[in-house]
Amino acid sequence: MKATSKKKTALITGASNGFGMELAKLFAKDGYNLVLVARSTDRLKKLGYSLQDEHQLEHVCIVTSDLTRPESAQEIYEEVKSSGIEIDVLVNNAGVGVHGTFLDNEFQRELDVIQLNVVSLVTLTKLFLPEMKLRNEGKILNLGSIVSLMPAPLMAIYGATKAFVLSFSEALANELKDTNITVTTLCPGAGNTDFFHKADAEYTKAANGPLSEPKDVARAGYEAMMKGEVKVVPGFMNKIQAAASNVIPDTALSSIMHMQMEEETKDAYYDKEA
Ligand SMILES: NC(=O)c1ccc[n+]([C@@H]2O[C@H](COP(=O)([O-])OP(=O)(O)OC[C@H]3O[C@@H](n4cnc5c(N)ncnc54)[C@H](OP(=O)(O)O)[C@@H]3O)[C@@H](O)[C@H]2O)c1
Repeated sequence: MKATSKKKTALITGASNGFGMELAKLFAKDGYNLVLVARSTDRLKKLGYSLQDEHQLEHVCIVTSDLTRPESAQEIYEEVKSSGIEIDVLVNNAGVGVHGTFLDNEFQRELDVIQLNVVSLVTLTKLFLPEMKLRNEGKILNLGSIVSLMPAPLMAIYGATKAFVLSFSEALANELKDTNITVTTLCPGAGNTDFFHKADAEYTKAANGPLSEPKDVARAGYEAMMKGEVKVVPGFMNKIQAAASNVIPDTALSSIMHMQMEEETKDAYYDKEA
């Protein structure tokens, strides 16, 4: 069935968990129809259909896709087009990291991080932006990180992808400044999601320090996107860290970040858990 809705639609990648799931809830609460993308079909369906019921959304479209596959962005675009859906808001949220030294990490895993965090994000933007331009209206929310602003030793590839996301998004926001299309980058610090676990980084100091709640991060990103802000760093301590990154020399910043990404011994980790 073709969707003929006049209500706005948000496409959210990585909506099956964490920040993406909380963002989906915020869009639904404001009456947006949803296109939810991730690999976990069951989780997407459970979320999507419960939000549809709760908020009487006209359509929720579930797209199962592995965004590390080079063809995935084009396939998502074609699926959305064949359903007759116009995307008013594109949220490029799906992303993963990989913990360890560049020397030791498995290269294919790092290439997958680049494909997911950078290439798929850029491709989806390339595909959906022209229609926003034709309508002279649209919003893009991209997931950066606090490490968009500083090097991330022991997660070097991840940090570099997030630096790319911020640089790309800020430049694009400037190129579009005379249109009604806005591009916002959300740059959270460490958050209480599945991120560290998936990155094999659950024993690091960063993962066991203060963590932001996904709800709060999503809310900050959503509000900044609605206001058309170019960048948002949610949370007081993260804002301090972001400000400090402008004055601390890069080598010192790298050393601080290296310490944050070091593993606590597993004994210390389990002592804390007990
Ligand atoms: N949590 C943090 O500390 C933190 C801090 C700064 C920035 N971020 C960024 O925030 C974004 C969301 O992460 P999160 O913290 O919410 O982590 P999360 O709980 O692990 O959620 C990641 C989401 O991305 C999806 N995803 C992962 N690999 C995918 C793939 N190959 N294809 C399609 N979807 C995929 C996951 O769904 P499936 O597994 O179902 O595919 C999931 O929905 C990421 O871009 C991350 O880099 C996180």
